[in-house]
Amino acid sequence: MAYEHHVHAGNTGDVFKHVALLALAAALKKSQLTVVESHGGSGSYTFQSTGEWQQGVGRLLAEWPAGASSGSVAVDRYLARVRRLQGDRDRFYPGSPLLLADALGPTGRIWAWEIDAAVAGRLRSTLAPYRGQVTAGDGLAALAALPAGEQRLVHVDPPYADKAEWTDGAAAVIASARAHRDAVYALWYPIKRLARPVALQQEFQSSKLPFVAIDLITTPLDTAPDKMAGSGILIVRPPSSAVADIAAAATVLGPVLATHGAAWSVRVTSG
Ligand SMILES: C[S@@+](CC[C@H](N)C(=O)[O-])C[C@H]1O[C@@H](n2cnc3c(N)ncnc32)[C@H](O)[C@@H]1O
Repeated sequence: MAYEHHVHAGNTGDVFKHVALLALAAALKKSQLTVVESHGGSGSYTFQSTGEWQQGVGRLLAEWPAGASSGSVAVDRYLARVRRLQGDRDRFYPGSPLLLADALGPTGRIWAWEIDAAVAGRLRSTLAPYRGQVTAGDGLAALAALPAGEQRLVHVDPPYADKAEWTDGAAAVIASARAHRDAVYALWYPIKRLARPVALQQEFQSSKLPFVAIDLITTPLDTAPDKMAGSGILIVRPPSSAVADIAAAATVLGPVLATHGAAWSVRVTSG
């Protein structure tokens, strides 16, 4: 069965990823910014009455009602953007292409890839009010052929349905980052056990590209080894202000998203 992100939309992994992406966009949006989404999804989701969103964005929306501050600039920015896009549709959740396109404003542009043609069609409708283009096709292959120029944030968000996506994603980001020296890359990954995230981070250490990886773990790693216990975002050429904002956001998200009391943690690795 094809990967279906709507089951996961708004879960703890989406929350951390989307908080981090909006912090990166805010740090980079000094002038015109182009966002590249290699794995776009549909950009628009509807919460079911039960679902992973309840342990994710649902907890945040309840913890910090409109107007309340979480104490983190990045979390407040994310919740304000989610609420703005929800309007009066409280079961609506915006995916990363919509959150970013909306945050970029009229001078920004978004180039998105999505391999599932029907999902790509939905993303095209979602992004119709914004500048950019949606292509039905392989976003990892597209990373190798990005045109030069433009200040760029590249978001790489594979579904990790297959073990090879760990190495393929890292190889595609490293090759693309070497070819595009001004671009900032954000590679998201789930954490079930630490072995694969650590191996991924070691590949970037070996590449000599400057990076920071921030991991937020909200379930003890030995609780259910086949379930997601947290997630991480690896940023190549990280803007320092965004790293500080994301790390601070992780310490505010941890206690609210934790599934086992105070058992949450943040790991920061840099190279
Ligand atoms: C995790 S979801 C994307 C979620 C989205 N970035 C967000 O945060 O809202 C991953 C998506 O990648 C798509 N996909 C899988 N392999 C792909 C590839 N090689 N190129 C482009 N899209 C791909 C899947 O169909 C799925 O819609």
